[in-house]
Amino acid sequence: MTSKRNILITGGAGFIGSHVVRRFVTKYPDYRIINLDALTYAGNLENLRDIENAPNYGFVKADICDGEAVANVFKEFAIDGVIHLAAESHVDRSITDPLAFVRTNVFGTVTLLNVAKEAWKGAMEGKRFYHVSTDEVYGSLHDDSLFLETTPYDPQSPYSASKASSDHFVRAYGNTYKLPFVVSNCSNNYGSHHFPEKLIPLMINNIRNNKPLPVYGKGENVRDWLWVEDHAAAIDTIFHNGVNGETYNIGGHNEWKNIDLVHLLCSIMDRKLGRAEGESAKLITYVTDRAGHDLRYAIDAGKIERELGWKPSIRFEEGLERTVDWYLANTEWLDHVTSGTYQQYYNEHYAQR
Ligand code: NAD
Ligand code: DAU
Repeated sequence: MTSKRNILITGGAGFIGSHVVRRFVTKYPDYRIINLDALTYAGNLENLRDIENAPNYGFVKADICDGEAVANVFKEFAIDGVIHLAAESHVDRSITDPLAFVRTNVFGTVTLLNVAKEAWKGAMEGKRFYHVSTDEVYGSLHDDSLFLETTPYDPQSPYSASKASSDHFVRAYGNTYKLPFVVSNCSNNYGSHHFPEKLIPLMINNIRNNKPLPVYGKGENVRDWLWVEDHAAAIDTIFHNGVNGETYNIGGHNEWKNIDLVHLLCSIMDRKLGRAEGESAKLITYVTDRAGHDLRYAIDAGKIERELGWKPSIRFEEGLERTVDWYLANTEWLDHVTSGTYQQYYNEHYAQR
């Protein structure tokens, strides 16, 4: 690969995307980083305030389903690498509106693939289409095994079915049109700038506001949590050193039952807010379970560790402390993103439980 690159990052105004954009813009001053994002409810340019004036950074507001707009970006900026993160990402929303997930995650990804295929026709050498996917495509674990890159796909929610479909399309373009690609499947991320519809930031926000903490079902579902900056580091490693056509699983070796995680958060927040130990935990409220709720996700990240030398950098307790500190120092961000349509979503979603 050449040292100067023109990289298109889709979904760069979202949670993980903003960490990836920041990492690439600051670490690779010779690269030009173009962030293409439709700025849905989940996209927020405030996430990138600190780097928005960097000379090697540009933002384009566009929808990945708009082939013409995406093709213009490829042409104008001579894009030679794509890191594709734009997606509808929340499982609960996929249960109420599956078509929105088919549109962005499937149609949008195929639109992007088509543009890359046409733009790079006859000149695939040195190009790279990196598709960022999820461990949820492997389904739900009911024993103590781990997801491997070879685990058969078995998606169980409209969200994971749409991501699985997009993964299949990426590989199909590699096989059929020789598009150079890599795919990664990562476990649950946590950290700063995480939209408070997801478990950890939602609980932090509700603890802060003394609101009920809605735990689905019995709270026994297990997730494997990874610090978002470690995911961004893994994406950097795979983008530069991953082998074309390969898939890499990324995970934190860090499984937590939801209820244990919520208790840990309550205890950290009690300390930070000067509350008596146990006070925040009184807010825990068991609510109706998510339909088709996957029991357990757990990643075997051995391949990326062995072959590319990546591994998680910080312990979960430390990452969670840092995350809580970030939210408490950025209450304006939280208040901003939870105003407007968030309230409507929250009321509708949790009223039914
Ligand atoms: P997010 O919801 O926080 O951000 C998604 C971003 O995509 C937003 O900025 C949004 O505006 C943008 N977007 C949505 N639809 C678009 C469209 N049609 N055109 C252009 N932009 C659009 O999501 P996230 O949690 O940061 O996830 C990013 C990617 O990583 C997704 O592909 C997701 O499937 C994957 N992933 C997420 C996790 C996780 O724990 N959050 C774990 C593994 C993989
Ligand atoms: O595994 C990777 C996936 O992790 C990503 O692909 C998704 O984009 C991301 O949203 C995440 O999916 P989950 O469904 O695991 O994340 P979520 O934060 O929505 O929920 C985590 C767990 O907490 C899950 O078991 C459901 C539960 N939960 C969630 C919410 C929002 C609750 O008990 N109460 C809640 O209010």
